[in-house]
Amino acid sequence: MSDAPLVLGIETSCDETGVGIVRGTTLLADAVASSVDEHARFGGVVPEVASRAHLEAMVPTIERACETAGIALRDVDAIAVTSGPGLAGALLVGVASAKALALGLGKPLYGVNHLAAHVAVDQLEHGPLPEPCLAMLVSGGHSSLLRVEDVTTGVEPLGATIDDAAGEAFDKVARLLGLPFPGGPHIDRAAASGNSVAIDFPRGLTARRDMERHRFDFSFSGLKTAVARWVETQQRAGVAIDVNDVAASFQEAVCDVLTRKALDAAVTHGIEDILIGGGVAANSRLRAMAVERAEAKGIRVRVPRPGLCTDNGAMVAALGAELVQRGRAPSALDLPADSSQPITTVVA
Ligand code: KG4
Ligand code: ZN
Repeated sequence: MSDAPLVLGIETSCDETGVGIVRGTTLLADAVASSVDEHARFGGVVPEVASRAHLEAMVPTIERACETAGIALRDVDAIAVTSGPGLAGALLVGVASAKALALGLGKPLYGVNHLAAHVAVDQLEHGPLPEPCLAMLVSGGHSSLLRVEDVTTGVEPLGATIDDAAGEAFDKVARLLGLPFPGGPHIDRAAASGNSVAIDFPRGLTARRDMERHRFDFSFSGLKTAVARWVETQQRAGVAIDVNDVAASFQEAVCDVLTRKALDAAVTHGIEDILIGGGVAANSRLRAMAVERAEAKGIRVRVPRPGLCTDNGAMVAALGAELVQRGRAPSALDLPADSSQPITTVVA
């Protein structure tokens, strides 16, 4: 066990400054400083505000992680950092910090893909990833279906959203309903006491003609517009809106499409394990529906605990440790932050 690499991971792609420390697949520390409250009044993440917050939180968060893990910085075997995709200025803070640490400590630097890190994190909780597995990543910034053969080299995109991300839809609909940002957890809670079949909202890209070109892709902007229209129509007619019913019916539409497409992709590709990650994976209905529908097809579902689903440094450290263990080459010290790093580039 003590032979396993000790890796420090840094995540700054959005509004969470995450610093995680792992030894192999054992989580030692997962320190997160979030600037989410600073963005709440804008109803979404403001990039410049996020970058400034990363700058201020970086050193204290690194110190907190080392203290929790009971290690000194000089003990680490490698530094891993999210190099993309994400907000350019926010990524830059993490990448610059990781370079400084790697150079100062004389340790290898791994600039890793944020989406691959969302996949790798599950190893900290459920052990080695089944190979292959079907990963569904759903968050405020991305909604993707990936075929993962080897998380350090072989991640193949099968589909993605063609407009809004799933989390973005949750956040926008929450705003329409007067719920606070980020809206996902509030919709989840409201939906628990609502009727999920009260309103029949559209399921994007599930019609036969769409399935030909976009079988494993998602679209949530039509759903968001449908909710907006429904709310407007009710208001114009002077009818009180049952927020719980709207939340439940909207959530049902999102979860229905996500689980249907994930299972279709798994069955089509002969994959027996589905992994769900990203902030929306914390959704209670998504978890329950995925497990229920997968079980019926003899497919297993893995979902990390909510704290590891949302952006964090442990996921970056977990992928870094896997890269070290598989003997993958580190990044160069002139590693750039790449806001649109493709999923096929696991290490930049
Ligand atoms: O992965 P994450 O922390 O950051 C991004 O990379 O975006 O995901 C944040 C997103 C937000 O859109 C938030 O509303 C959503 O995840 N979210 C949820 C739930 N918890 C967080 N969506 C639905 N249900 C939840 N329980
Ligand atoms: Zn993310």
